[in-house]
Amino acid sequence: MKELNKTIFITGGNDGIGLATALLFSQHGANVAIMGRRAEKNELAKVRIESQGGKCICLTGDVSNEDDIKDALSQTFKAFGSLHYAFNNAGVEQLPKPLTDQTEAEYYTVFDVNVKGVWLCMKHEIPYMLKSGGGCIVNNSSASGITGMKMIPLYSATKHAVQGLTKSIALEYAKQNIRVNAVCPGAVATPAYEQFMGRDPAMKAAVESCFPMGRVGFCEEVATAVLYLCRDATFTTGASLLIDGGRTAQ
Ligand SMILES: NC(=O)c1ccc[n+]([C@@H]2O[C@H](COP(=O)([O-])OP(=O)(O)OC[C@H]3O[C@@H](n4cnc5c(N)ncnc54)[C@H](OP(=O)(O)O)[C@@H]3O)[C@@H](O)[C@H]2O)c1
Repeated sequence: MKELNKTIFITGGNDGIGLATALLFSQHGANVAIMGRRAEKNELAKVRIESQGGKCICLTGDVSNEDDIKDALSQTFKAFGSLHYAFNNAGVEQLPKPLTDQTEAEYYTVFDVNVKGVWLCMKHEIPYMLKSGGGCIVNNSSASGITGMKMIPLYSATKHAVQGLTKSIALEYAKQNIRVNAVCPGAVATPAYEQFMGRDPAMKAAVESCFPMGRVGFCEEVATAVLYLCRDATFTTGASLLIDGGRTAQ
């Protein structure tokens, strides 16, 4: 099981999909560096990873700030001496509302984290991956990066943009042993989702009925896809993997 003698950097690794991915890679023997804005949550996640025997460092910072990204990656490379994988997962949602009520401030918040953050991460991860002999990046897009979503056009646009970044940077580095792919989850039952839906069973049933498989996904199902893309999908680059229970096949 502990076959991965590799280092992974995960943004948004202290919760939800990012934490599930950190736990899975650590179970497979990878060194894990997690980044998030809240130091306390980062520490809690580190304790969980270390309690299953994993090696972890946590880095406090904002993915939309270039200095924070540079610092986090420099500390990761210093701690583990390598960088092979990155999961650029940190993202923020947009509050659903009609277009005419949406603000410029919301535009900048969603684009700064979801697009600029992913671009900055790749810009600074790739030099360390080249020093490590190559690597694989997985960006967290969304099923909303494949289809439009009414009331959240900014979120949907950022997730489409993540796929443009993924394909373009995959092409630029294809000959240098760097693969770049995206995952596109549908709704995923993160702790925040469970807490929110727990208060509204009718809403939960309505959301789940949109999925041909009759349920939303689990964080671990996205983590497994990230592991597949990093470890096994050695001829896959510039691709987007849907993990949405058939929703976009309709
Ligand atoms: N859950 C879903 O249904 C779903 C579906 C499709 C796609 N996705 C995508 O999957 C990714 C993770 O979603 P999730 O639901 O697992 O999220 P989550 O449970 O809300 O966790 C978000 C993570 O991102 C971190 N984060 C947020 N803004 C950040 C910033 N500016 N800089 C650094 N870290 C930041 C948070 O930590 P701090 O707050 O400490 O910074 C937290 O660790 C997102 O990109 C999301 O768009 C989710």
